[in-house]
Amino acid sequence: MTEQFEFTTTEEAVHETADTSVFGEDVRADARQIIARYPESRSALLPMLHLVQSVQRHVSAAGIQFCAEQLALSTAEVSAVATFYTMYKRKPCGQHLVSICTNTMCAALGGDAIYRKLGEHLGVGHNETAGTPGEEGSITLEHAECLAACDLAPVLQVNYEYFDNQTPEQALELVKALQRGEKPAPTRGPALSDFRGAERQLAGFFDDLESTVAGPSAAVETMRGAQLANERGWTAPSMPDDAELPPLPEKK
Ligand code: FES
Repeated sequence: MTEQFEFTTTEEAVHETADTSVFGEDVRADARQIIARYPESRSALLPMLHLVQSVQRHVSAAGIQFCAEQLALSTAEVSAVATFYTMYKRKPCGQHLVSICTNTMCAALGGDAIYRKLGEHLGVGHNETAGTPGEEGSITLEHAECLAACDLAPVLQVNYEYFDNQTPEQALELVKALQRGEKPAPTRGPALSDFRGAERQLAGFFDDLESTVAGPSAAVETMRGAQLANERGWTAPSMPDDAELPPLPEKK
């Protein structure tokens, strides 16, 4: 899939006539399943955009048009959402998406060095792909904001699965293995898929439940506080029954 589309929130940037035939009957059936989960069809937009990425590796003009048609939204509304979240990609991703956390904690503990090392090895920068998107071993690199695993810093993700406590050397070995077509086991979570497989899961489809969700999800470091509290009998004060809650603002 080579289509590349730099979309903006302006109507003229999204072609109302974009050809959506790339989304075949199977994808349309999946879309209907997604939409059926919600009382309002427009609420299905986020998983729908992941479904689009599971087909095309990014959100193309056709993907925007497809979502708009399925959800009775305008292309401007779909585009506004797709450009807001960084998980929706504007260019086709490689077989794997490698995200390096370069937020404060990870950066201080080596995240910046990991990002530099991988950028040098792959010869690409943020949101760029080494290799041809879709071909085996192709890798899209990005730096990411806090990946919510600061206790395991520095961390990186491959297709959103965690590799904790990384060094630049370990990260380089990991990427080389991906380029060879291997799928090293993440530190936590299920076995590694590829970008399209991860996007399908994010759309809410777990075709092979056993291998797509099985795996340890909590790290020892993350559970340490709860474990200590448990051992020492510490509990958080409960909310008093007569506690006054702040008034809700009037609905307009
Ligand atoms: S700063 Fe990297 S996970 Fe929070």
